[in-house]
Amino acid sequence: MKIDVILGLQWGDEGKGKIVDFLAEQYDIVARFQGGPNAGHTLKFGGKKYILHTVPSGIFREKLINVIGNGVVLDPITFEREIQNLRAAEVAFEDRLLVAKKAHLILPTHRLLDAASEAAKGAAKIGSTLKGIGPTYMDKTGRNGLRVGDILLPNFRDRYEALKKKHLEMLQIYPSVSFDLVAEEERFFNSLNTLKALQLIDSEYFINKALDENKKILAEGAQGSMLDIDFGTYPFVTSSNTVTAGVCVGLGVAPQRIGEVIGVTKAYCTRVGSGPFPTELHDSVGDLLRTEGAEFGSTTGRPRRCGWIDLPQLRYTIMLNGVTQLCITKIDVLNIFQDLHAAVAYRFDDVESAELPYDMAEVRVEPIYQKIAGWNISLDGMTDFEILPDTLKSYILFLEGYLKTKVTMISTGPEREKLILC
Ligand code: GDP
Ligand code: IMO
Ligand code: MG
Repeated sequence: MKIDVILGLQWGDEGKGKIVDFLAEQYDIVARFQGGPNAGHTLKFGGKKYILHTVPSGIFREKLINVIGNGVVLDPITFEREIQNLRAAEVAFEDRLLVAKKAHLILPTHRLLDAASEAAKGAAKIGSTLKGIGPTYMDKTGRNGLRVGDILLPNFRDRYEALKKKHLEMLQIYPSVSFDLVAEEERFFNSLNTLKALQLIDSEYFINKALDENKKILAEGAQGSMLDIDFGTYPFVTSSNTVTAGVCVGLGVAPQRIGEVIGVTKAYCTRVGSGPFPTELHDSVGDLLRTEGAEFGSTTGRPRRCGWIDLPQLRYTIMLNGVTQLCITKIDVLNIFQDLHAAVAYRFDDVESAELPYDMAEVRVEPIYQKIAGWNISLDGMTDFEILPDTLKSYILFLEGYLKTKVTMISTGPEREKLILC
């Protein structure tokens, strides 16, 4: 059996959580492979809304196993809060939520370093979620990090103190930021008990054995490909590989075991935090997209920057990920427009190109748009592709033609059932 992948093709918040929750029913296991509590995945069903940060989006499906893989960075404090929310929602998760021993731990001082580093950058800040993601991955690659499995070791406290000391020394080079380290440390050590109560596993063995036993596995991406540490709009990116290749290292599966890759994109484009965004709209259309699409961050509540869909960018991320099927979300947000626009090429350095420049953060990229007729009616009650307005069908055909990839799902609302299979 192969492992299927769902990931975001833009700058995150494409609606991955909703799609994973919808499809999870067809799988035995859902596994997160990178990122951490910088993610905010929203699920809506039964009149309720849930936001998950570290816990995989398959947790609400009975019997389904959820794995937090080795590529994830885990903050026991936010994790405990999520666990409490699951308890409050009466979700029986105890036997179904497994955590990789090799996943790295986010310490309170990682969050402090994140805040101090951003403060030092001033106007050039990344716009980090301040969850400690960058400093934790730095300790991982710098070979200083602490891992989930380490909490079981008798000398864990000593290791913690040694790393904390190093962090406090590093903090000397940064401006001071307000942070109650004593209180955060107390919360950190208390929350480790919640983590210890779960099954801590060697997730690479677990996942590979499950594949050998013909179990169906879905890997759930966090962030989006344009935030990938290698291929995103560097340095305005996150600190992990968000592309399909991240599944191999973040779960320990070989490349030939990757099956379907479902790329999720909004019907328009958003970004939260700093960095280049060629199709960003600073006018009333951008404001309309924000209000219609309720574009406020699931993790930080920040207003998301909004703009038209960017097809050269999607072509790039489809290439990087080997996307085999596309899922277009938030199509309903475009109902209000008579006309739509899609960037089909860029102009930069006096040339036209459908490829992204090396340094988007430095090169001013001007999008070249194609105007497309909108459908301009409500899609309420339309559950079948065949009865969708012709203009909407043409829009989907246009996307498929340009992107050379089949659209297999269209999401028409935040609720679980608002999904049209094509
Ligand atoms: P994720 O990080 O990719 O899981 O996405 P987020 O949950 O951060 O952001 C997506 C937002 O859009 C959430 O508030 C979802 O409830 C909402 N959403 C998802 N799909 C749709 C859709 O098709 N239409 C509308 N209007 N909202 C959607
Ligand atoms: P999901 O999984 C949108 C952005 C931050 C910032 C940059 C770096 O919900 O799609 P970090 O905290 O990783 O150091 O922040 O990346 N960012 C996201 N934007 N959705 C996310 O996750 C994001 N995770 C990080 O806003 O610009
Ligand atoms: Mg999100």
